[in-house]
Amino acid sequence: MCGIVGYIGDQQAYPILIRGLHRLEYRGYDSAGVSLISEKGDLNIYKAKGKVAALEESCKSQDLTGTIGIAHTRWATHGEPNQVNAHPHYSESRNLALVHNGIIENYKSLRTQLEEYGMTFASETDTEVLVQLIEYVKKDHNCDLFTAVQLALNYVVGAYAIAILEKDHPDQLVCARKGSPLVIGVSKKADGRTEFFLGSDATPIVEYTNQVVYLQDGEIAIMDRTGRLEIVDLKSTPQTPKMATLQLNLDQIEKGGFPHFMLKEIWEQPNALRNCIRGRINPANKDIILTGVLDHKERFLNCRRIIICACGTSWHSALIGKYFIEEACQIPVEVEYASEFRYRNPVILPDDIVIAVSQSGETADTLAAIELAKEKGAFLYGICNVIGSSIPRATDSGTYLHVGPEIGVASTKAFTGQVITLSMLGLAIAKVRKSLSDEMYHMLVEELYKIPDKMQWTLENNKDIDKFAERFTYCKNFLYLGRGYNYPVALEGALKLKEISYIHAEGYPAAEMKHGPIALVDAEMPVVVIAPKRGMYDKIVSNIQEIKSRGGKIISVVTEGDVTVKGMSDYTFTIPDTRDCYVPLLAVIPLQLLSYYVAVTKGCNVDQPRNLAKSVTVE
Ligand code: AGP
Ligand code: GLU
Repeated sequence: MCGIVGYIGDQQAYPILIRGLHRLEYRGYDSAGVSLISEKGDLNIYKAKGKVAALEESCKSQDLTGTIGIAHTRWATHGEPNQVNAHPHYSESRNLALVHNGIIENYKSLRTQLEEYGMTFASETDTEVLVQLIEYVKKDHNCDLFTAVQLALNYVVGAYAIAILEKDHPDQLVCARKGSPLVIGVSKKADGRTEFFLGSDATPIVEYTNQVVYLQDGEIAIMDRTGRLEIVDLKSTPQTPKMATLQLNLDQIEKGGFPHFMLKEIWEQPNALRNCIRGRINPANKDIILTGVLDHKERFLNCRRIIICACGTSWHSALIGKYFIEEACQIPVEVEYASEFRYRNPVILPDDIVIAVSQSGETADTLAAIELAKEKGAFLYGICNVIGSSIPRATDSGTYLHVGPEIGVASTKAFTGQVITLSMLGLAIAKVRKSLSDEMYHMLVEELYKIPDKMQWTLENNKDIDKFAERFTYCKNFLYLGRGYNYPVALEGALKLKEISYIHAEGYPAAEMKHGPIALVDAEMPVVVIAPKRGMYDKIVSNIQEIKSRGGKIISVVTEGDVTVKGMSDYTFTIPDTRDCYVPLLAVIPLQLLSYYVAVTKGCNVDQPRNLAKSVTVE
């Protein structure tokens, strides 16, 4: 977690760093800090508890000059989120300043050892150990910073992306990564001068250059004002920097007139999904082309089991994917919490395919889960949104969501992007395995193609959720119920509400309610029921009766034209009719809007909910 920004060039670094921090703030916002080598040659560090705005406020009367700097927005793992623990951290001599994203697992033993050598520590963080260790090694070996970092990192166990400044060398910036992402932006000027930008992802870089180098795990880089970019691995073996062109533009990462990224991303869904299926669904011949499957046809033909690993919202979409793939392909599918899977000794057979679903492509648990699966010989398939992120790079094949950058911490368009991608994947596998009749296959493809338009209809027809959201802001608990494909939607609806409005909510399979949660139902408890016309409509009507007879308030999601459930409900959201398997793509939309408006009415920060961060790059 956390965001790192860096700059070296001929512009003033501070404004670039602050803009970058704002862009990365979704990754963590416990504290923020910046370090600059000033025009006088001082190595300054300024930091503040809380958001980047607090840092800007506290920096107002400081010396903010300097054409080299690093900055950080923190999601605390070790040590309270206060000013002392905020990054950057100085080394003892104050000659080095360092920012870090990740966790140093052996920080205690390293710290004890460094304390035995007489070094003193100011903070409780694992990060400070890194900067002290690098300084110690540098003195001990009497070497330059680049060499010291290479040597020091060999003692370090854990995950890191780091950037370091050295007071005596205001002409160079050193960085390294292992397990946490880092991107270097390179901007070559017509007059031959070069500027370098550093970011935990490309969002702080895109407005300056589209030429980037994604640092690989175990690589250390040095950049300087002469345009030198040198990369070595942990054994000091030189590596050739691989230049890539960013496929990201500025509009995609700005709010575009919406009050929050989350609302923008909810409304973007129809277009985002059109982008996702473009070139993959051919409406003319009702066919799906997924190169990720076609390039590995034999694998999918011979596969006996699929295991999907994911976390959070991505786990919910994986569950919908399981239902779909099992139904369409008749292959057993297991869905695993990546954080559990990685610490078991799971049985993985040679014909298994392991799929990782992750918006960021950087979630530490999901990455570790697929690395374990790789060791056991599985074929790995990635379903990710962030292009060039770690999971797509670690997998054998995969499909990008192409829904554009998701900035709101609460995932919305990535969820529906994942569900539609898993549906395309299921159909592509079904085609290879001939597990569906031609008629059924074409009908499912044709209907999937219509989903973005039906999403648009759903958004237009549920706009007024803001009008009654206020009534729910005082609720302490919510229950979300769904059956079949809509059970994961109930889980997702509950997670969205919890994340951004801090109201406790639980998702349950509707029929399980009578085995326990029904005890919670009273007149204070809103129960959200996903009750589309198809599927187990009659059964869900009975479940609603059970709640009503105990005084519960019903908020239902029904199909256009529904009368029965609507008549039993206190509030109703309407969606267009579609196949059972695609209902989640529509039913989730009013639930996203409901959680958004409840949270906004409560005055919560929906884009940056407390204690959360967008990509969980720590365990
Ligand atoms: C979603 O609203 C959450 N913030 C969270 O559960 C998220 O889905 C999870 O951390 C997984 O992230 P990923 O998709 O980037 O791997
Ligand atoms: N482990 C470090 C800390 O707690 C870095 C956390 C982060 O990635 O923000 O300060």
